[in-house]
Amino acid sequence: MDHLKAAIRTIPDYPKPGIQFRDVTTLLGDAGAFRAAVDAMVHPFAGKKIDCVAGIEARGFILGGAVAHQLSVGFVPVRKKGKLPYRTIGQSYELEYGVDEVEIHVDAVRPGERVLIVDDLIATGGTAEAAIRLLRQAGAEIVGCSFVIDLPDLGGARRLEALDVAVTSLVSFE
Ligand code: PRP
Ligand code: HPA
Repeated sequence: MDHLKAAIRTIPDYPKPGIQFRDVTTLLGDAGAFRAAVDAMVHPFAGKKIDCVAGIEARGFILGGAVAHQLSVGFVPVRKKGKLPYRTIGQSYELEYGVDEVEIHVDAVRPGERVLIVDDLIATGGTAEAAIRLLRQAGAEIVGCSFVIDLPDLGGARRLEALDVAVTSLVSFE
């Protein structure tokens, strides 16, 4: 996975001093790295029954759409509040300062559907936890959560595992 790690750009002091921002857009712009990342995200779930992929706004749409295409299943967008046109259910989550909320359409999944959640990066796990709670509220069974990047110091993977969700990631930045 060293070639994938090398394809991710690090921006120092973004969005504020002291933060090393892991920028996946450089990986997405590299055809070989993009394909290798999607293949590696799909690999652990080969042979498992998956009914759809849920991608978390915004970068999870790009990766999740590609993973869904590769698995030949449909795609469910987990969007920030106020973006979806039909009736929605929402779940709030804590940010460093304040709260945000993600939503899905009320009919985005059918009860019992087996869903793989995809995003570019897990930090605290707050966003993915909200997605898990929301999809479970809609009756979905969460097969796993797949990320390109884990920031293990922030404890997100442990937080999701405590919810009985299998977590996979391709590269870590300590
Ligand atoms: C980033 C990232 C994840 C989330 C991870 O998205 O793409 O969705 O943060 O952080 P967490 O594990 O601490 O919840 P961001 O909130 O920056 O939204 P964006 O993709 O719409 O810019
Ligand atoms: N990159 C992208 N999204 C993020 C990061 C990061 O380094 N940290 C928290 N969310």
